[in-house]
Amino acid sequence: MGDEYAFDEDILKKLNALQEKYAAMGQDLSAYLDGLLYADYLTYWDYINLDTLLSLQHPITPIPDESIFIIYHQITELYFKLALHELEQLNSCAPTDCASILKRVNRVNRYFEALTHSFEIMVDGMDQNQFLKFRMSLLPASGFQSAQYRKIEIRCTTFNRLLNEDHRDANEGYQPGDIESLYPFIYWKAGAVELSSGKKTLTLRQFEVKYDRDLLELAENTFEVNLRSLWQSLPPDEQTDELKKALRWLDINVNINWPLSHYKSAVRYLHRNPKDIAATGGTNWQKYLPPRFQKRIFYPELWTTKELKEWGKTWVEKEVFGHD
Ligand code: HEM
Repeated sequence: MGDEYAFDEDILKKLNALQEKYAAMGQDLSAYLDGLLYADYLTYWDYINLDTLLSLQHPITPIPDESIFIIYHQITELYFKLALHELEQLNSCAPTDCASILKRVNRVNRYFEALTHSFEIMVDGMDQNQFLKFRMSLLPASGFQSAQYRKIEIRCTTFNRLLNEDHRDANEGYQPGDIESLYPFIYWKAGAVELSSGKKTLTLRQFEVKYDRDLLELAENTFEVNLRSLWQSLPPDEQTDELKKALRWLDINVNINWPLSHYKSAVRYLHRNPKDIAATGGTNWQKYLPPRFQKRIFYPELWTTKELKEWGKTWVEKEVFGHD
């Protein structure tokens, strides 16, 4: 064998390791090397499926700013996916693993900070007149139908915390078998009723048909591994101040900051003197969206009575109405 075929030791070690890897599965390394010989080099655009990604925007009107509306929702859903990617990995956390929990909570916090900030951009991101024209073509679709948003909530806390306020404390000791009977009292069902008749909106009915089964199953499967149950079952010395601080920040991010910047957008686009404009989902959105009315709170044990009572109040007064 001439020198041109000599491999250095490092390459030979890797070939041996590959041989072992493929032999263990009854595979022939030589055949795989043939495949490698003809394989193309990877490109950026193929790797991230760029052409597909950029072809997923299909406005249904000719109004230019509708594209912004679609892309903005898609960006948000991708961030929701990143948040879920972290929360899903809590399923495999050891019961004492404070460090892993903290790492994941910090990541979810950063995603929500980015989302809140990006809503501050969105608040002036579209032309209101254009929005008011194309929105009627979107009926009865609404961001209300975002299942990923509900999955984040289900994974972040115990199921009773997502019920209407008057059902939360009474069901603190719920068991997985109770979830199906508690499900009708989940907060968002009460939010999506028709202003005129009090009946469920079509937006809600469609959402229920598509997602109720999945969401119910998720709530049952995460009974022990939702973030609140996990943090509460940590031994006291693992319930560090750093973790408590991160969980409080998560509560603020998901239940105050993001909903309020979203609400600010709704006010910006749906408010036109002398009165507000009905939403595409048909809800009483002025009463439904502001956190101070629903008081969604994941970790009540981490807040004082006063903080619980005034949930979200300061922000609305300052950011929306311009006074402290
Ligand atoms: C101009 C922009 C927006 C306006 C005017 C707006 C308006 C509304 C309104 C009025 C509701 C109440 C339900 C209804 O009656 O439809 C709602 C709910 C919702 N929207 Fe938006 N929205 C906007 C952008 C977005 C974006 C970009 C997302 C990202 C996914 C989003 C996600 C949601 C979610 C998750 C809910 C349910 C909130 C809850 O149950 O507390 N919205 N939106």
